[in-house]
Amino acid sequence: MLLHGSDALKKVAAAGHALPGFVAYNLETIQGITAAAEAADRPVLIQAGSSPFKHAGRDALMRLALDAAGHSVAQLGVHLDHSRDLDEITACLEAGYTSVMVDGSHLPFAENIALTKEAARRARDHGAWVEAELGALPGDEDVSTDAVAQTAAMTDPRQAAEFVAATGIDALAVAVGNVHGFTKDPVHLDLERLAAIHEAVPVPLVLHGASGLPVEELHGALARGVAKVNVNAELRRAYLDAVRATLPSALPGSDVVSVWAAGRNAVRDTALEIIGRLIPHSQGNA
Ligand code: 13P
Repeated sequence: MLLHGSDALKKVAAAGHALPGFVAYNLETIQGITAAAEAADRPVLIQAGSSPFKHAGRDALMRLALDAAGHSVAQLGVHLDHSRDLDEITACLEAGYTSVMVDGSHLPFAENIALTKEAARRARDHGAWVEAELGALPGDEDVSTDAVAQTAAMTDPRQAAEFVAATGIDALAVAVGNVHGFTKDPVHLDLERLAAIHEAVPVPLVLHGASGLPVEELHGALARGVAKVNVNAELRRAYLDAVRATLPSALPGSDVVSVWAAGRNAVRDTALEIIGRLIPHSQGNA
């Protein structure tokens, strides 16, 4: 069923857990993410777009994600990730997306506020919630580039408070040392900065770039206001590893379905494992 509203986000924030936001590119990744949410019986966000639209086509991917979420027994939000385009945001809201991320992080502060404010207004008109970003995250959304975090681009707690107050967003994505994609060296988050942002803003925080993040860093973030965690590269790697392992038996008979199924099942298993990672051990399964 479709997970409407930001209550689930607030609930996990209060419990010190996080909602996973899993990036989906195609039918198989949507099926894998949906199956993981069903197996875990936990709310999950399918992040269908914006950059995956380049592969699947916007209307096709929107329909696949909304259909899968709407027909599942699990609670699934359908979320637009990293959009800079108000027309794209409106199209997703009109189609029934339950949340959108407007990404004005590349813009000067005042322009980021203006873009984010307008996206938040449109989201509210459609009963959806909105995430925005302040500070810049290194790396690429679709390919691991081994990027490193830059202190200069990190989120400033005081600016974050002003940004949230001026825009009326429901969740704030932060740059605190997190990086999109896998990195050569382990990522260390600036947890002090994260705690200061958490103290300064009244909304749940979002951690992008969680693939490969050491679990103690992740749990440190959950203890400091992070209530949504985005994962992409780990699912991509799981999909590709499964495809590689299946190819030798699939190639002789051109059995492409067995390759797609292996990719789908690997996404399911990895997503399920990540959902478990987002519940700190000390809290059991509460
Ligand atoms: P990773 O690819 O590092 O998991 O980041 C995903 C992400 O933040 C999507 O917005």
